[in-house]
Amino acid sequence: MNISIIGLGKLGSPMQAVMAHKGHKVVGVDLNPATVNAINAGKAPVKEPRLQEMMDGSRERISATHSYEEAILGTDITMIMVPTPSGSDGRFSMKYVMEAAEKIGAVLKKKAKWHLVVLSSTVMPGSTGGTLLPALEDITGKTCGPDFGLCYNPEFIALGNVVNDMLKPDMILIGESDPRSGAILEEFYQGVCESNPRIRRMNFVNAELTKLSVNTFVTTRISYANMLAQVCETLPGADVDVVTAAIGCDTRIGSKYLKGALGYGGPCFPRDNVAFSALARANGAPALLAEATDQLNRQQVPRLGAMILAKLPAGGTAGVLGLSYKPDTGVIEESQGVALAKYLLQSGAKLVVYDPEAMEHAREQLQGQVTFAASPSECARQADVLAITTPWPEFKKLTPQDFKRSAGKPVVLDCWRVLAREKFESVVDYLTLGYGAPQAARVPQAMAAEGD
Ligand SMILES: NC(=O)c1ccc[n+]([C@@H]2O[C@H](COP(=O)([O-])OP(=O)(O)OC[C@H]3O[C@@H](n4cnc5c(N)ncnc54)[C@H](O)[C@@H]3O)[C@@H](O)[C@H]2O)c1
Repeated sequence: MNISIIGLGKLGSPMQAVMAHKGHKVVGVDLNPATVNAINAGKAPVKEPRLQEMMDGSRERISATHSYEEAILGTDITMIMVPTPSGSDGRFSMKYVMEAAEKIGAVLKKKAKWHLVVLSSTVMPGSTGGTLLPALEDITGKTCGPDFGLCYNPEFIALGNVVNDMLKPDMILIGESDPRSGAILEEFYQGVCESNPRIRRMNFVNAELTKLSVNTFVTTRISYANMLAQVCETLPGADVDVVTAAIGCDTRIGSKYLKGALGYGGPCFPRDNVAFSALARANGAPALLAEATDQLNRQQVPRLGAMILAKLPAGGTAGVLGLSYKPDTGVIEESQGVALAKYLLQSGAKLVVYDPEAMEHAREQLQGQVTFAASPSECARQADVLAITTPWPEFKKLTPQDFKRSAGKPVVLDCWRVLAREKFESVVDYLTLGYGAPQAARVPQAMAAEGD
């Protein structure tokens, strides 16, 4: 099939490469000349593992243009993958989608052949059928269904793993205007995916709500584990990793996204959760769980920040190792590491930071206020209290030597348990995160009563 993709950013460009890899001719449209030029020169416009390799293998099937007409007239399906930024009320804006829709509609008006439009950006429930569909009908003067098709088909990917996630998804979610449109998209994905994913086809609003609900559910799990970590800290001998590992054995629960201690970040989780609450509130339905999840998440940075400050010697330096919101990406949007760095700076702490991929982005926000270390070990060597906030594999290579001091021991807050504790215990003092060290723990009421 010939495909066009509108928006060649963090998702659109891997999507183009993956579809081309599977034999489709894919032309992309982007407003950004640097993106169009990069793709036409065979260069990945964003940093994402395997993207360049995929592009290299399918060069003859990949192109980019600024012209909607060129892209849409020569293709059968158009995917829309433009940003939908959050507004101040937490709801996603349709501004960029509607700008794209105007231009798509103008071309479809002239196109005699039936065409399928697929919205892949994350949108608020009600947007595809309530806003995009009538706009496309209005601009084209055509009827959705007989004259053109419309699907809502959001992505469930994690940055840093976009190519793999697109090739091997758990589920393909399709909201459809009519069975023909959904069937074409389903058949298309069966040729692209290597994982034999479950395909769920439904109306627009159910698909829009499913997309938001998946992320809201995952964030709830993360906040649950963080809540558990805090409770563990009050119980002598309790260890959140032991408890979550056991909880995860229950097949009703499972073990993914159940690591206690650090909040969630990134371009999707926080805002999807907030959007879900905003939707529920606007419709008069309670979303107490989503609101509590968000509240718990916002408490993580001040909580960890206070732990660090309590251990920081006067005039000492705090270290933050990990600024990207997760490994394998340089994205720092809503990153817990950056938020922690800012919290510590506001409290007057001196700061040294390091990240393998996010230094450039971090400089835009922290330049002149922190020391940017050249390596994980340089960061570790300079810090009196070091927080490891992203589980980058290379942080595992830190050695006890990196923490040895001529006098005293540095303090480490290892949020992801990256360092093998037994190797480092002689050279660092660990901050008790997620477990109740006997000396620090309070004896809870119920236990005291039993002891009586
Ligand atoms: N990044 C993620 O982790 C992720 C995950 C799941 C879903 N999403 C959703 O996917 C959508 C896209 O996200 P992204 O991260 O790829 O965004 P992005 O900002 O990385 O890329 C968007 C691209 O669209 C281009 N663009 C904007 N308006 C355009 C127009 N009218 N015509 C042509 N090009 C246009 C921009 O120049 C940019 O290159 C959003 O709705 C987002 O919520 C993102």
